[in-house]
Amino acid sequence: MSQTAPGWRSVEPPVVADRLSAEAIEAALCTRWLGRHLHCFDEVGSTNSVARDLARGGAPEGTVVLAEGQSQGRGRLGRSWVSPPGKNLYLSAVLRPRAPSEHLSQISLLAGVAVCETIGEWHPAVIKWPNDVLIGGRKVAGILIETEGEGASRFVVLGVGVNLNAGMDDFPPELRETAGSLRLATGAPIDRRQFVARMLDRAEAIYDRWQREGFAPIAAAWHERACLVGRPIVVEAPEGRVTGTVLGLDADGALRLQLPSGSEQRVVAGDVTVVKGGR
Ligand code: BTN
Repeated sequence: MSQTAPGWRSVEPPVVADRLSAEAIEAALCTRWLGRHLHCFDEVGSTNSVARDLARGGAPEGTVVLAEGQSQGRGRLGRSWVSPPGKNLYLSAVLRPRAPSEHLSQISLLAGVAVCETIGEWHPAVIKWPNDVLIGGRKVAGILIETEGEGASRFVVLGVGVNLNAGMDDFPPELRETAGSLRLATGAPIDRRQFVARMLDRAEAIYDRWQREGFAPIAAAWHERACLVGRPIVVEAPEGRVTGTVLGLDADGALRLQLPSGSEQRVVAGDVTVVKGGR
């Protein structure tokens, strides 16, 4: 326990000495292949870009890139990802899955399960389709999958951003109603090295299971944590706005919606809003 001199009170929460280093993370890892080639940087444009360049150069499956901060963090649908230095997790992994191309979108869903379960070790969390992880309705993690190449040279970059120790001041005003962090939820600083190791352990186990058994067990785990099933939503999809009630996931990871007409529609990409007055 830390000692405080009489008459003094600590005002700031103690800063966790959790600078990201390959040695410290490898020492905490239990994986066979994920994160066994680990590259840690102070600042990069985007860890996804660094991982992509490594993959183009032949980096093996499981290569992981971490950065303290990103100057051009990318989000889904062409958005940027707020990436203040020294506080959060910005991670990209090189994957070389054996699955057919039409199944690759399942990786973003299985990653959502891994991230949600890891966050759940600190605080209960849910998944909002496709793979946003929310605590108390606030987004604390997002996933960006980028695929390149064909045949033997095809690879996937799995990018994960988790707001671990960010404070409200770290988010721009327009995100302060909707973004959150694990520290803001628990009230205690999060050791990023411990979090990374736990997340990679889980992600490897879930990815290996997906390669062995296919998508069905992943879909079941996703449904257990999904917050939208049975709720009326609006999706801003690339092909237009769709309103309906969420039925669940389709076999390929698409969202199944029941339309007001009673018919069913699949949505493969888009941004979801829960309809006001829906539960
Ligand atoms: C989303 O929009 O929800 C996806 C956000 C993904 C952010 C992560 S941070 C690490 C990796 N590098 C990036 O540039 N983006 C992803």
